[in-house]
Formats: sequence, C-alpha cells, structure tokens
Amino acid sequence: MKSNPSIIIVGAEETEQTLLMDQIGDLVNLASSAADPTQAPELTRQHHPDLALLFLDHDPGKIFEACRDIARLNGCVPMIVSKNRDPQQILQAMKAGAKAFSYLEGESNEIRQTILDLSKQISVAAGKQGLQSKVVAVFSCKGGSGSTTIATNLASALHLHGKPSGKKTVLVDLNFQMGDVLAFLDITSRYTWRNLVDNMHRLDEVLLWDSLTRNAFGLHVISQSDVPEEADNLNAEGIERGIAFLRRYAGYVVIDGLRDFNEISLTALDRADKILLVVTPDIPALKNAKRCLTIFRQLGYDNDKMKLVLNRHERRARLDPDSIGDALEMPVSATVSNDYANVIQSINEGRLLLEIAPRAQVTRDIENLIGLFAEQIAEDEEKFRLSDLWRKRR
Ligand SMILES: Nc1ncnc2c1ncn2[C@@H]1O[C@H](COP(=O)(O)OP(=O)(O)OP(=O)(O)O)[C@@H](O)[C@H]1O
Ligand SMILES: [Mg+2]
Repeated sequence: MKSNPSIIIVGAEETEQTLLMDQIGDLVNLASSAADPTQAPELTRQHHPDLALLFLDHDPGKIFEACRDIARLNGCVPMIVSKNRDPQQILQAMKAGAKAFSYLEGESNEIRQTILDLSKQISVAAGKQGLQSKVVAVFSCKGGSGSTTIATNLASALHLHGKPSGKKTVLVDLNFQMGDVLAFLDITSRYTWRNLVDNMHRLDEVLLWDSLTRNAFGLHVISQSDVPEEADNLNAEGIERGIAFLRRYAGYVVIDGLRDFNEISLTALDRADKILLVVTPDIPALKNAKRCLTIFRQLGYDNDKMKLVLNRHERRARLDPDSIGDALEMPVSATVSNDYANVIQSINEGRLLLEIAPRAQVTRDIENLIGLFAEQIAEDEEKFRLSDLWRKRR
C-alpha cells in the first residue's frame, strides 16, 4: 500500500518541476511528468495518480482544458499551480474543475500546505482508485482442477457477503477463446473485454456498472467468450489498463481463465494481490503445481501473495494436505471438499452452489476462501485511515 499520494506534474519546465519537488518531494510520489499539457489525460489514464499538479503559466488555455479532462476522469484530483497571482485565473481554474489553486514561489510553503489541506479529497479519490480493492487471481496448475468452479462461487460469495466499504465485486474471465464463466453463470455477455478496453476513457463509475453484464444476483462479469473473434488484437497492455480501471471502482476483482504463462496471464498475475493456486490431490496436478511455484518464485512472488488451495479434497485421501504441502514446500492454505454431485449439477444448470446446495461443505469451503485475503483488506483500510490522519496533523 502506498502511504503518500502519487502525483503527475504537467506543463512545468524542468526548473519549475525541481522547485515543486523541493517543496513537496517528501509528501508525494512523482509517478510521471510532461511539459506538454495535451499529454495530461493520457498520463492520468496510464498512471492513475491521486493528484495532478498542472502548471498554468506557459499555456493557460491548454492547462484549463487538461484540467477539465482530468476532472471528468474521476479518481484524480486536479490542482493548478502558477507563479502569477491573478484572481481571474483562480476563478477560471475553479470553473475548469480544479480542486485547488496554489502559487509557486521560491521560499513559500503554500503548495505544501494546499496539498495537506487537500488530503481528504485525495484520500476519497484514492479510495476510488483502488487502495482498498483487492485483485484475486484463481490459477489452475492443470486444466480441469476447478478454477472456474472456485472463481465463480467465490466471486458470488464476495458479492453477497464481503463487500468492503459497500464496493462491488467483478468477476473477470481472461480466457478469451474458451472461457466458461458465462456458461457457469448461465448468462450471455452484454459488454466484453473489447468494449471495456475501447471505451475506458469514456466510462465513469456509474456507466461502468450499468454497462457490465450481471448475473441473476447482480454479480458483475466481464468476459469475451461470446464474441471471441473480437479479442484477436487484445494485448497485455490493454488488459493491464482494464484491470487497473476495474480495481479503481470495485472492492474485489476476481480473475479466472488464466492459461499457462502467456503475456496476458503474466500481466494479470503480476497485478494480483493474491493468487489462489488450485491443485487437486493427484500426482500430475502436483507435478504441475511444483513447476508453477518455481516460475512464480522466479517472478518474485512471495508466500504471502500465493495461497495453495487444495480442491476436491477428501478426508481419507492418501494425498493429504500435509504431505501435499511438504511436497510443494508450501503449506495448503485451504481445502475445498470433493462433491461431484453438487458441483456438476451447479455447472450443468448454470446456477451457483449456494443456490443448489447452500449448506453443503463444498459451498462453505469456497465461501471460507474469503478469509485468505479479507483480513488484509481490513488491515489496509486501517492503515489507510491512519495515514490519512497523519497527513492532516502535519
Ligand atoms: N470441489 C469439486 N468437487 C467435485 N468436482 C469438482 C470440484 N471442483 C471442480 N469439479 C469438477 O471438475 C471439473 C472441472 O472444473 P472447472 O471447470 O471448474 O475447472 P477449471 O480449472 O476451470 O477447468 P478448465 O481448465 O477447463 O478451465 C468440473 O466438471 C467439475 O465438476
Ligand atoms: Mg475454467
């Protein structure tokens, strides 16, 4: 979690940027900068900063335009900075949607004070940008291990019980050609990955939730598999932006459909806060899991990010959680019971396990997976509030 707000600086020359950073460098993280004001919206979309510092003096017309664009994007607080004390400009800045106006002067600490005063608005916007969100990737080490069963039922459980701060859950299927999240939920796609990636710059929070496909319980889903041919030129960069966009507004983003280690899977895995690594208690699955874990460790993922979930678990099975944990040198964090009758019925009827077997152990096991990452959310929310208070007191 970042403790300082991230910023972009737009429209300033090098000396002005240095002066700015001398005054506020310890309060913020500089994500990026550009002298050309027309780059401001693109920088905001790319870096999702908490605050955009817009230096007015070289091209006021374009800076006001950039300010209007950023204000529309939602989630980033635009602030105008100038060396010129002209009250008329303040008025124009406010009309353009700036949340603050401050003077840049050699020894003054005015900008510093303005940023501290803005901390409330920054924190609200930053909350929207996903400080409190969690991206959870469900990854099958071997095809057919139960990733889609777990992802769909876990996302539904989160949607119904676990919303942090009243935020929504979105279930994401990244298997563009053969994904089966839609079939598992018995829905057809209204809004695809292609639609999201192409229209992100136009969407605000309300439009996003209105556009996405929903199941009967109101769980939001984004998939491509109804129109796979449109996905042909979807690339990792688009998916990365898509995930960043979703996490801005959702409490949880649950990802299914990760196949092997292609570029898109790797992007999603990198962006995930938690990876639920699904294994079944059989030797081929364990061999694959061993390989996956080696790759994950090479990618720098630590044991806190990866959680081993043993699916199709049976109490008396010879391959028990302890021996699986020993073999994989990673403890089994949770088990999901083997219950073929209920699981296959739920898949074939396109209904959730909690609809057809609310009291079954398998249903409760999947619901309990929330505990693997929900605690972290509470902790992050607490840290977030503390850092907010700390900012206000300085
Ligand atoms: N806990 C379980 N108990 C019994 N059967 C299960 C369980 N979980 C999954 N299955 C069965 O395993 C099969 C594969 O499940 P699922 O489609 O969820 O796996 P997957 O990892 O998403 O597969 P794919 O590689 O095709 O994406 C299904 O037919 C389902 O019935
Ligand atoms: Mg699947």
